[in-house]
Amino acid sequence: MYRPPVTKKEIRDLVERQVTLQQELKKVFNSPDADKVLTKRYKPAEVAELVGRSKTHINREEKNPDNDLFPPPLVSINRREGYTQEQIQKLRDYFDTNKKLSEEDEPIILSIQNFKGGVSKTTIAIHLAMYLSLQGYKTLLIDLDSQASTTHSLGKIPDFDIMEEETLYSFFHNVLDGEDVNFSDYVQPTHWMNLDYVPSNLALYNSEYEIAAVDLGAEKFALLYSGIEQVIDNYHIVIIDTPPALGMLSLNALYAATACIIPCPPRMLDFTSTMQFFKMLDNVMGVLGEDISYKFLKILPTRKKARTQKNENIDVMEDNVLELAYKHFGEYMLESIFYETAALDWVSGENKTLFEVDKPKGSPQTHRNAIKNMNAICKEIEKLICKTWSSTEEM
Ligand SMILES: Nc1ncnc2c1ncn2[C@@H]1O[C@H](COP(=O)(O)OP(=O)(O)OP(=O)(O)O)[C@@H](O)[C@H]1O
Ligand SMILES: [Mg+2]
Repeated sequence: MYRPPVTKKEIRDLVERQVTLQQELKKVFNSPDADKVLTKRYKPAEVAELVGRSKTHINREEKNPDNDLFPPPLVSINRREGYTQEQIQKLRDYFDTNKKLSEEDEPIILSIQNFKGGVSKTTIAIHLAMYLSLQGYKTLLIDLDSQASTTHSLGKIPDFDIMEEETLYSFFHNVLDGEDVNFSDYVQPTHWMNLDYVPSNLALYNSEYEIAAVDLGAEKFALLYSGIEQVIDNYHIVIIDTPPALGMLSLNALYAATACIIPCPPRMLDFTSTMQFFKMLDNVMGVLGEDISYKFLKILPTRKKARTQKNENIDVMEDNVLELAYKHFGEYMLESIFYETAALDWVSGENKTLFEVDKPKGSPQTHRNAIKNMNAICKEIEKLICKTWSSTEEM
């Protein structure tokens, strides 16, 4: 008689082994139970830019005995350590250069969305969140994907460090159960200045079924928005990292969002699938309600190969797709392009973002180029966000 070699018993055994494996992985990649620590330090010129005061001005105030500002400690006769993010924040508080929104300006809820997988949604979401919060915007990053890559980037092993009660699965579940739920219970601090997040793990996938099963009509798409609404006044910007699928979670993100960034590689298949995204967006807008509108919606070309002799053919194809995209989508395209870079492999090997690494493992020039590219993308999005506010001179 045919006997399957792997039965329920072996699967259970696998599950048990996985728990030990995860514990050991945690020891290898992170000190046990320790939160992620930022070792990155900032040079005086960067600090001046971030604080909005000149180096000389900052220097003068650091020498002034009437305040409690101090320069970073000396590491040698002529060299000081770089500034920490806490020191940058202290300088901003002292010079009163923190970002402020005027009464009539609304915080923005920005969804990074595309139903296609692997198009850099999470990479853009986490870098943009870090960029904006470093500039001084109070930022909330919501991990709405049960794959939980964002949660992982913030130093947690999703299905090990995060319990389902901490994820939006629990939020949706309790709301659907008719309980009064505080969204702020799901918000956690991060190791990065001005940045909070809502973690995820695989449990969130259950929300797809639970939300779909309730008989709530269009209200079921407003669940996330109702949660964000409770905490929105604490933030300038909310960023949602979405799953690569059209489901209840994605629809909740589309409903909650007041602006959208659609990352899309300039390749035939990715572009045609993005077209499907717009088609579905058109359909679901009918279901979501006529009051849905976005302050901006922009396509960001991602993972474009830089020109080398080796991949000349790919380049030509990518250039053709991009040209057509600019021709037909014109004002819906971001000017910046996110180029494919080995620097991301190096930093993600250490579970870091480009912005967290001081000394790259690979070529420093490649690393600098990748940061320059990412900064340009984030700056362009920052400008779009600021345009939605009247008090932009502060920004
Ligand atoms: N410009 C780039 N250059 C090199 N690698 C990249 C680039 N953008 C993303 N990657 C890598 O590609 C992989 C997928 O990227 P990412 O997770 O950001 O995509 P995603 O759209 O969020 O995927 P998913 O749909 O599965 O959520 C990651 O390993 C990431 O480091
Ligand atoms: Mg992702």
